[in-house]
Amino acid sequence: MIEDSLEAELAAIETAGLTRRRRVLMAPCGRLAAVDGKTLLNFASNDYLGLAGNPEIARALAEGAGQWGAGSGASHLVSGHLAPHDALEKELAAFTGFPRALTLSTGYLANLAVTPTLAGRGDAVFADKLNHASLIDAMQLARANGAEVRRYPHNDVAALEKMLAASSAARKVIVTDAVFSMDGDLAPLPLIAALAERHDAWLVIDDAHGFGVLGPHGEGSLAHFNLPPAKRILLMGTLGKAAGVGGAFVAGSETAIEYLLQKGRSYIFTTAQPPAVACALAKSLQLIADGDALRANLMARIGQLRDGLADLPIKLLASATAIQPLIVGENDAALALAQALWERDLWLPAIRPPTVAKGTARLRISVSAAHTEADIAHLIDALKELT
Ligand SMILES: Cc1ncc(COP(=O)(O)O)c(C=O)c1O
Repeated sequence: MIEDSLEAELAAIETAGLTRRRRVLMAPCGRLAAVDGKTLLNFASNDYLGLAGNPEIARALAEGAGQWGAGSGASHLVSGHLAPHDALEKELAAFTGFPRALTLSTGYLANLAVTPTLAGRGDAVFADKLNHASLIDAMQLARANGAEVRRYPHNDVAALEKMLAASSAARKVIVTDAVFSMDGDLAPLPLIAALAERHDAWLVIDDAHGFGVLGPHGEGSLAHFNLPPAKRILLMGTLGKAAGVGGAFVAGSETAIEYLLQKGRSYIFTTAQPPAVACALAKSLQLIADGDALRANLMARIGQLRDGLADLPIKLLASATAIQPLIVGENDAALALAQALWERDLWLPAIRPPTVAKGTARLRISVSAAHTEADIAHLIDALKELT
């Protein structure tokens, strides 16, 4: 039968305890999640500033649809680049401090538009081992285009330097997450940027989890480190996490962005996002820029959580960001703890291999500015009781 081999693989996934199931939410994303007739405290989203359910953004989306219609009708380079897209790109460039920005439909597509476009035959990619799956896929595409691909141990700047020094590639491209999505730690961007300078390499930074959250006004990880936008840096930010809507952007020099626009296949060969989404994002960008109080609350909740869990028998990884991973170890134990918390109306996803290394299954606690002090206290109490 045609499906036999698929069923065998699905059975193997089930036996390994790795089957993933979707939960259907019956209310907007926010502090609380309505699932299976229950109302849970939501520590599972990437809605770090609590903007996904923000009524002002929803209104901007509705008004945008009223003015600009439902869809863009084509890809950006054909006839799908509408005034709200263009305005948003200019606002994103100004906000991040780069000369120019390009918007794309998702962060996944944005990553596919950058690395394999910059690196082909005769070039080399240097990638952190813990990079996000979309960066890994981008790296594989670069390899398929003929680029050499080297992966360096997580945040190991000395190993990266050795690789760069030994390379005679025409174009060298360093690729790293700014905030690692399953560990919450930061890449040492000042050191990596200095290496890029010394070895004349491009530096591609995925700031999916830093944009909106880090930096004096949410500009992201570069601003957090006080790193000026340089010509050799391409900054990718996603707009469906802290920004609360969807989509992504790449910011860089005039020339680098023009190059991606001309050559980035996942930019060129896909329909532009609905213009109303760009209208919603313009409002979101305003709320991020004015969001110092949201970020202050987020940082206070992160501090409260870390203080409260300091003596837990299981390990909370060292992370100063909204991603707070609690390492459980075995898959079954992580699932059992997530289930016990679920029964106490607390939603924390269990993250298992292959997303993380074998033996490091974890609960990924995602803290949001929408959480209250009482919410965090409730989570701390439950974890103390269950571990
Ligand atoms: C580090 C990182 N990069 C890229 C992405 C992809 O972004 P998007 O969800 O917009 O496709 C994600 C998460 O989804 C991520 O965590």
